[in-house]
Amino acid sequence: MRIGVLTSGGDAPGMNACIRAVVRAAISMGHEVVGIYRGYAGLLREEFYKDERGHPMMNLRSVSDISRRGGTILHTSRCKEFYTDDGLRKAAEVLRRNKIDALIPIGGDGTFRGAVALAKYWDGQIVGCPGTIDNDLIGSDYTIGFATAVHTAVEAVDKLRDTADAHERMFLVEVMGRHSGYIALYTAIAAAAEIACIPETPTDTGEIVRLLHDLKLRGKTSVMIIVAEGDERGGAAVLQKALCEVKCPYEVRVLALGHLQRGGSPVPQDRILASRLGDFAVHAILQGKSGVMAGEQKGELVLTPLEETFAAHRPVPEVYVKLLETLAT
Ligand code: F6P
Repeated sequence: MRIGVLTSGGDAPGMNACIRAVVRAAISMGHEVVGIYRGYAGLLREEFYKDERGHPMMNLRSVSDISRRGGTILHTSRCKEFYTDDGLRKAAEVLRRNKIDALIPIGGDGTFRGAVALAKYWDGQIVGCPGTIDNDLIGSDYTIGFATAVHTAVEAVDKLRDTADAHERMFLVEVMGRHSGYIALYTAIAAAAEIACIPETPTDTGEIVRLLHDLKLRGKTSVMIIVAEGDERGGAAVLQKALCEVKCPYEVRVLALGHLQRGGSPVPQDRILASRLGDFAVHAILQGKSGVMAGEQKGELVLTPLEETFAAHRPVPEVYVKLLETLAT
């Protein structure tokens, strides 16, 4: 069997460990792996990883020592052309011409929307792996890259706390999550922040300012507010303006962590999850499965139809929202 593997959409730390697992698992069971560069854009342009003999094939050595590296050795992209009928037809033709029987796309909701669309034109098997720092897919408790992104954000907030304390200031730290508060909420709890502004809960500036006055009265010298970029009020800069208008009792500084959160060496949790899911995706293909995402729920490996992974907003755990409130006030 010839299995294609690609990474698409926003890169996530751990994608390399997932590629390695796909390659090693498939080869160990006597199958071939074609590495497709630059996601769906590279598929359309037939940009394949070539081995030493120039064959479009990955081997055991092509994935040596990549698990600890951030980014993705196959590179990634967001591809508009792929979502057109012509693009999808062309992609199916490329897959057929190169005798690829199955595809493992590693990515987030956009990647899986693309995979579902492709399935209308191509009858090969598709089993996705969840690779996104956002942790916003249904079907896996955690996505590959989330733990590292939180780790990076927490390290940054810890450092900011030092200077915030020294100057007795408040920081608004914006983290990624276009539609999701997962990174913000987990970062806030781990970094002992006072507040998280996330799209899943209402952000009321009057309420925040009341809380800040309470904190000031209780002698709190520094405050950390973690803002999800997708908060319904807007990002950290918008919130800073709104808070200053309603007389914030602290001097405020803003920092958007941005793409910093997507880089860096993946933490062991992401490497292990990625290795497990890459191996599981190959096994699922060999068992004839298709149109599904490989995920881990409560420690068990599970398959979820691709359409379901992005069909609804994945809620953040209510207990974590409560925990943050309890610990901060
Ligand atoms: O990887 C997901 C994500 O990090 C979102 O949280 C963010 O809004 C988006 O990617 C931005 O990515 P880019 O700048 O690569 O389009």
